[in-house]
Amino acid sequence: MTTTPNTDRLAAERDKWVAAPVVGRPFFVERAEGARIWDVDGREFLDFVGGIGVANHGHGHPDVIAAIKEQLDSYLHQCFSLHSYEPYVDVCRLLTECHPGDFEKKGFLANAGAEAVENAVKIARHFTKRDGIIVLDNAFHGRTALTMTMTAKMVYKIGLGPATPEIYRAPGPYEFRGITSDDAIDGLHRLFANQIDPSNVAAIVYEPVQGEGGFIPMPQDYPLRIQEIAAEHDILVIVDEVQAGMGRTGTPSAIEHYGATPELMTWAKSMGGGMPISGVTGRADIMDSVHKGGLGGTYGGNPLSCAAAKVAITQVLDPDFQDAAKALGARMRSRLDGLAERTSLIGEVRGLGPMLGIELVDADGNPNGAATAAVVSEAFDKGLILMGAGVDGNVIRVLVPLVATEADIEEGMQILEQCLENANA
Ligand SMILES: Cc1ncc(COP(=O)(O)O)c(C=O)c1O
Repeated sequence: MTTTPNTDRLAAERDKWVAAPVVGRPFFVERAEGARIWDVDGREFLDFVGGIGVANHGHGHPDVIAAIKEQLDSYLHQCFSLHSYEPYVDVCRLLTECHPGDFEKKGFLANAGAEAVENAVKIARHFTKRDGIIVLDNAFHGRTALTMTMTAKMVYKIGLGPATPEIYRAPGPYEFRGITSDDAIDGLHRLFANQIDPSNVAAIVYEPVQGEGGFIPMPQDYPLRIQEIAAEHDILVIVDEVQAGMGRTGTPSAIEHYGATPELMTWAKSMGGGMPISGVTGRADIMDSVHKGGLGGTYGGNPLSCAAAKVAITQVLDPDFQDAAKALGARMRSRLDGLAERTSLIGEVRGLGPMLGIELVDADGNPNGAATAAVVSEAFDKGLILMGAGVDGNVIRVLVPLVATEADIEEGMQILEQCLENANA
């Protein structure tokens, strides 16, 4: 049996000093590169999670590191609303290039995904002079007071304080569980009839591929239907690309697979190439509508993060990067589809491009969270980092760095297949 003296020592320290809610399995990183992580006891792992979708460009991309080092020698913090600096402007320009739609756009930077969503909601409320916000079942938008209300899963909010007002939940399409676009749109109309008049709704917020909720891509017709309904009532659409954006589905935004052109979009995770940064992009007149001082924050768009984000977003906009990501997704998808045919534990393999989810079910087709936990745990013992998702915790999410080599993918897939087969036995 492998001994892990350094991990054991650090885990004891961690459990003494770090608040329990944020503590995971005993695993301490020493070094990370590309799609691999080495721990403090010399164990090597393949990373199919990427710090939850932050490592689309791989760990420690050399161009990202070089840009950070260069910025480091010039200046660190400034606070953009006091002293402007060019990297912030560049990131806003690049981010707006990721936002589909033939209209003038502007951007605004913050630190984390939840903060981007909070700000998009504030902008939508200010512009429309309405308060109502509609979110979907299975949504995940963050853990702040506002965004935990917008998030669907109870673990993120139970006992953590009162819900913020004026958040309404509509059904989210989930075809594998029998909820179609028609059902979801019917539900939205019922919401309008029973709970909030559309004239009081500022925005509808949704993820093009629901992440934490179970890697559930919206059906092909849903975004344009929502856009049409929203336009009819002067409601804005906010598309949350925090997890699905930045090349995760093979394109800069996931929403461009659907041809929709939302007024506002939120970004984070891989946009910083590993550095903390987030952003809101949107129609210029909407973004400009908030009074001075109404948006901002001390740290938003930190210069080091902007330097990293410039490299990360530029790469995502490169067609070669996108083609490689799409090819990687297609390769993994065909292997997983093959496995699903011979493994009754797999209810569905789904996703868009390389953003892939594997929903595990029991003999009756019900969510199988226990098998999912067993696969994640066995994979870890075999050197593959995986993570679950879904309101019932029964979906394995694949967020492998998009720069993973053929050898990385082959090794990881073999472990994943073996663990799924073992759990199926
Ligand atoms: C779609 C989506 N929105 C918002 C968030 C919140 O981002 P953060 O954890 O950076 O606040 C997440 C995080 O996983 C997410 O997946």
